[in-house]
Amino acid sequence: MNDKIVIITGANSGIGRAAAIRFAREQYKIIMACRNIEKSKKIQQEIIEQSNNHFVELLKLDVSSFQSIKDFCSEFKKKYKKLDILIHNAGYFKHGEKEYQLSPDHIELSFATNAIGPFLMTHLLADVLKKSEDARVLNACTTNIRHFFDSNRTIDYDNLQGELIDSRRYNSYKMYGDSKMALLMLTFKMADVFRKDGIKVNAIQIPAIKLSKETLIKFKSVWRMAASIQNIYSSTPESMADTYFYICTSEECKDITGKLFNDKRELMRPSNYSSGFIQEFKQLTDKGVYPKYADDIANIERVWELAVQLTSK
Ligand SMILES: NC(=O)c1ccc[n+]([C@@H]2O[C@H](COP(=O)([O-])OP(=O)(O)OC[C@H]3O[C@@H](n4cnc5c(N)ncnc54)[C@H](OP(=O)(O)O)[C@@H]3O)[C@@H](O)[C@H]2O)c1
Repeated sequence: MNDKIVIITGANSGIGRAAAIRFAREQYKIIMACRNIEKSKKIQQEIIEQSNNHFVELLKLDVSSFQSIKDFCSEFKKKYKKLDILIHNAGYFKHGEKEYQLSPDHIELSFATNAIGPFLMTHLLADVLKKSEDARVLNACTTNIRHFFDSNRTIDYDNLQGELIDSRRYNSYKMYGDSKMALLMLTFKMADVFRKDGIKVNAIQIPAIKLSKETLIKFKSVWRMAASIQNIYSSTPESMADTYFYICTSEECKDITGKLFNDKRELMRPSNYSSGFIQEFKQLTDKGVYPKYADDIANIERVWELAVQLTSK
């Protein structure tokens, strides 16, 4: 048995489930952090059977809720003194959702689930991560952030707590992109903040990955059809799980922190393409770059301050 402990959020489905199997096969101690315990028990059993690893524990976590995050972290710390790998895989995105969704703490739901929750949870687990000799945190980002190559695109800070619920059309696709951009910027800053503690924090830019039947069922019909077509040419959750495993365990990545990886396992860099049709086209087709927006100190500080303010209430 490997004595390393890994927490994977959203480990009952898709990439998270595949990652749990991948780590379990290598005999890591797995903590599946899932919001629906009944549904996830069946998956836990499958992972145990497929990996022949009996150290696959299921703990309740709703990462959109501060109270649930606090409960999860105190439960974890009662049982374990250190944590080696924390994978913020759980993500909320409901294709075609028209109604503004709020988290239990009154934060737009994708922002709460995808950015503020992982921020709070990483902070609450920092003391046990510090105890690991090689602590690594991985945040699941998305190619959707590439919309920020548009220089007019910004995070809608004015509507993150339902301020414009009645006057602005809710765009779940944009909110999802905003939340994942915030997660990326929080990744960069957390890497700096936790560097002194030896905790490495990186993100992975995930492209289209095949969605499970369970996930497709949650979509409205037209979006379900579009996602089913996209599934035909998408990579498998298992291939992305291999990439999670590589970033979180390999010698090559041991000293890397504050970086965004692409699905080819390459380190990405902020774009320095200038304006103009040819430059913009090159930027769009260059898989090695991410939008400058994410690298801007003022943008990073703004989202950091917001995360601190929202979580310290
Ligand atoms: N698949 C893609 O094409 C793609 C592309 C880019 C990025 N990503 C990112 O990759 C990650 C994994 O996605 P996936 O494709 O594997 O999706 P998935 O199969 O739908 O899995 C998402 C997981 O997140 C969990 N989750 C959602 N909200 C949660 C909450 N509040 N608390 C705890 N768990 C929660 C879900 O739990 P339930 O089962 O209980 O709902 C599920 O286990 C996500 O962060 C997603 O944004 C995926």
